[in-house]
Amino acid sequence: MDVRLRIQRFNPEQDDGPHFEDYTIDAEPMDRLLDCLHKVKAYEDSSLAVRRSCGHGICGSDAVLINGVNALACKVLVKDVKQPITIEPIRGLPLIKDLVVDMDPFFQGYLEVKPWLIVDPVAKEPERERLQSQEERERFDDTTKCILCAACTTSCPIFWSDGGYVGPAAIVNAHRFIFDSRDEGARERLEILSSKNGAFKCRTAFNCTAACPRGIQVTKAIQEVKQAALFGSF
Ligand code: SF4
Ligand code: FES
Repeated sequence: MDVRLRIQRFNPEQDDGPHFEDYTIDAEPMDRLLDCLHKVKAYEDSSLAVRRSCGHGICGSDAVLINGVNALACKVLVKDVKQPITIEPIRGLPLIKDLVVDMDPFFQGYLEVKPWLIVDPVAKEPERERLQSQEERERFDDTTKCILCAACTTSCPIFWSDGGYVGPAAIVNAHRFIFDSRDEGARERLEILSSKNGAFKCRTAFNCTAACPRGIQVTKAIQEVKQAALFGSF
């Protein structure tokens, strides 16, 4: 079948600003949007800049706007979207070229919340693994699924208007450790997330939950982090 695509293009060396270009390619209904972008790059215009790695919904590198909705291009099938299919870069991050944005501000927010296991640095090394019950593991299971695609953060109106906000993905990854029974850094992280750029900037728009390709309950995780910060409940 013929598939019509409207792709946002921007070459900083030639263009004053972004514009759309139309392409018609031959594709199957079960092809993924990432396959279509590869076809455009292979047969129509090799200068098209697209970021991707795994092609299977795991690396999180190909988040784009598809008909105005944040999604991974490798997880959306041609048959499931209305034509012409509009593809734009995710919003709120500096545009580098075509569909590629600068992810540095996103990862800066992520690193601010110390997304790693924190233990007492002067405590004696444990002599065996840190045990955890199934219930304790279950407590943060949802937020372990994050692949750092930025679909949530770049669908957030607060992040669009204030790049200082750490954003939903950073809070999701803080949640993953705050509620881990083996971690001892919850207070430190909650202090960071109680600051002016932290979790209380969230206005519960729910865009993040709708955007997450991993089905993570992002808004719920943010609410749990806010409660933990207010009531020390972790
Ligand atoms: S929470 Fe979901 S949308 Fe946000 S970065 Fe992680 S996987 Fe992507
Ligand atoms: S290319 Fe890795 S998630 Fe889509």
